[in-house]
Amino acid sequence: MLRDIDRVLIDRQQIASRVQEVARTITHEICGGDDPALVEDHEVTLVPILTGSVIFLADLMRHLPLRMRIRLISVSSYPGTSTTSKGVTIQSSLDSLGQDLQGQHVLLIDDILDSGRTLHAVRELLLQRNPAWVRTCVLLRKLRPEAMAFPVDYVCFDIPDDFVVGYGLDFDGYYRNLPEIVTLKPQVIENWSTRTPTGKPGSPA
Ligand code: IMP
Ligand code: MG
Repeated sequence: MLRDIDRVLIDRQQIASRVQEVARTITHEICGGDDPALVEDHEVTLVPILTGSVIFLADLMRHLPLRMRIRLISVSSYPGTSTTSKGVTIQSSLDSLGQDLQGQHVLLIDDILDSGRTLHAVRELLLQRNPAWVRTCVLLRKLRPEAMAFPVDYVCFDIPDDFVVGYGLDFDGYYRNLPEIVTLKPQVIENWSTRTPTGKPGSPA
């Protein structure tokens, strides 16, 4: 797996300190400050978009000191070996989760903002439930016009418009466990269909 990495874009120290910084900003905005008495009086519902946001969620939530619940939502837009968006499919909706979001503070969390279609679709679903406050938070935003034009409240990092994996982001379901944000060697993606479990190209049939 490690030999498939082309370049490390963001290392674990950079991620850790930025996630902590963004968590502080979010806490401050929801609670109106970080005084413990203020923090005790507030509550938030986190809505992470599966599966890519799981590691970001785990780190971010441990830096949010207020009372919280989590409601998961599952969306697919890069099925299998796609490296470009194939349109948004919501696989589990908030209805099936039975969560009443009316009057709640809701923080929508995703791994990466690319075309903005995923966040747009999920945000619309959330707004139908009349929450008091909705904000969106992403780990990464690609430096491309659609992403930069999309209204998002908290962005940890802006990155070049490349396909990236690691820290929750995948290629065909793999590489989520890499602790850094990396690009893959082009030949890994090109030869993917002929790989073996060891990652080596298979012998021709
Ligand atoms: P959007 O709907 O085009 O904004 O795409 C967002 C979703 O596509 C993210 O939640 C990711 O799951 C996936 N995605 C977009 N870019 C990448 C990438 O570079 N690597 C891995 N997944 C990506
Ligand atoms: Mg995703």
